[in-house]
Amino acid sequence: MDQPRLLAVSDLHVRYPENRAIVDGLRPASDADWLIVAGDVAEGVEDVAWALGVLRERFATVIWVPGNHELWTRPKDPTGLRGVALYDALVAACRGLGVLTPEDPFPVWDGPGGPATVAPLFTLYDYSFLPDGTTTSEEGLAVAQQAGVVCTDEHLLHPDPYPDRAAWSRARLDESERRLAATDPDLPTVLVNHWPLTRLPTRVLRHPEFALWCGSSRTADWHVRFRAVAVVYGHLHIPRVTWEDDVRFVEASLGYPRDGKRVTSVSASSRATCCSGRCCRSRGQRARDP
Ligand SMILES: [Fe+2]
Ligand SMILES: [Fe+2]
Repeated sequence: MDQPRLLAVSDLHVRYPENRAIVDGLRPASDADWLIVAGDVAEGVEDVAWALGVLRERFATVIWVPGNHELWTRPKDPTGLRGVALYDALVAACRGLGVLTPEDPFPVWDGPGGPATVAPLFTLYDYSFLPDGTTTSEEGLAVAQQAGVVCTDEHLLHPDPYPDRAAWSRARLDESERRLAATDPDLPTVLVNHWPLTRLPTRVLRHPEFALWCGSSRTADWHVRFRAVAVVYGHLHIPRVTWEDDVRFVEASLGYPRDGKRVTSVSASSRATCCSGRCCRSRGQRARDP
């Protein structure tokens, strides 16, 4: 029997039949494998629950964090759920399936490479990853608009009851920071978030203005402050591994079928399995829209 592993994947985007087939084929090598699913599973609670349900039947523990796509509400959505109410419905669906979320106690991975606290986070973005030459979110957004780069979130990711996405993000950052500060100081952590925690991964975006929708400068030192041995994220659809302060940052995206596919597996000691791909769409196909 293989050693248990702590694995990760993100951006499954199962509304694409090709990706649904990949999820159907995902299986653990050991009955004790855990799987981190780092957001953008699907749009709509039903598809998210389908994918997480399939994975939960196979993996000993499944840990999910929301991406922006889970939080989209299309104009004709029959549920009418928006913002926090939609997030709460997703969390309730996960609980029904036995899938862990950012609202649950952080689990401790005790397998090879452990023990380590696995911390699923939901921080959204606060428009602080500014384009070069700008100093405020307003300036940054104006530059992005001028460049024709506008994330679809601006139309579909509603912040209700918060006045805007940045305010929702600030509340999530506060709560995430409070939870992380309360973790066992003797254990290292594996931090999991859909959006990158540091700016570095966004430096290779084809359209740099898109970084506005990719994270928050407030999390820049969390991997150090909260003793991370690995950080798992998705969203950019640029699967790769980078290192900062001797901490391993893994983008684990599968992405859209048009991105091409490659799947790589990394052992538990490095604490992630990465899938890859690319995504994004924006006005005129000019930017990534993970
Ligand atoms: Fe995303
Ligand atoms: Fe995505």
